[in-house]
Amino acid sequence: MIVAIDGPAASGKGTIARSLAAKLGLPHLDTGLLYRATARAVMDQGHSLADVEAAVAAARGLALTDFDETALRGCEMGEAASIVAAMPDVRAALVEMQRRFAHRACGAVLDGRDIGTVICPEADVKIFVTASPEARATRRALEWSQNGDKVDYATVLTDILQRDERDRSRTSAPLKAADDAVVLDTTKLDVAAAIAAALEIVLARTGAKGPAS
Ligand code: CDP
Repeated sequence: MIVAIDGPAASGKGTIARSLAAKLGLPHLDTGLLYRATARAVMDQGHSLADVEAAVAAARGLALTDFDETALRGCEMGEAASIVAAMPDVRAALVEMQRRFAHRACGAVLDGRDIGTVICPEADVKIFVTASPEARATRRALEWSQNGDKVDYATVLTDILQRDERDRSRTSAPLKAADDAVVLDTTKLDVAAAIAAALEIVLARTGAKGPAS
C-alpha cells in the first residue's frame, strides 16, 4: 500500500505521516528533507541558492541515508529548500529516488507537496492536509522554540505565507491537492485527533483493518 500525504508548511503532514507509518508498519519518507538537504549542500559548497547547476549536482549526489534531520529542520532551511524546489531540473533529479522508495514490496508512506500529483499518482490513499496559516504559524513557532531557536510568531507567519506562495505558484509540481485526495483540515484538531482522522481515511479507502491496539 502506498500512502501519499501532501500539504503546506506546518499543516501537520509530517507528524501524521510518521504516525501512520508506525501504525501501519510501513517505512516513511519525509520528502521535504531531500529539498532541504539539497539546499544545505549548495550552501555548504559556497554556491548561491539561485545556482541551478550547483543545485542539480547536489540533488543528484544525495543519499537517503545521510541526512542530519535536526540541522535540516532548523528555521532557515525551509525557505532555502523552497528556492531549490522550484527548479524543474532539481525536482527531476529527485523523482526516481522517491519512486523507488514508494514501490518497495512492503509499501510506504511519503509526505511532501507533490506525492499524490506527480511522484505517486497511483497511490492507494492520498490525503491533503491543510490548516489556517495562523494555526500553522503557532505550531511552527512552538516547535522551533522547543528546539531552542529564537523566533517570533510574526516572522514565522511571514515565512509560511511566503513559502505557500512560492510552492503554489511554481510551474513545476505546484502544491495542490490531487483530484482524488481526501482533504483533512487540522486547524481545530490536536495531534491525536488529526492522526485518528487520517487513520480513518486510510481504513475507509483501503478497507484495511486497523492496527491491533
Ligand atoms: O515541514 P515543512 O512543511 O515546513 O517543510 P518540508 O516539507 O520539509 O518542505 C520544505 C520545502 O521543500 C517546501 O516549502 C517545498 O518548497 C519543498 N518541497 C517540495 O517542493 N516538494 C516536496 N515533495 C517536499 C518539499
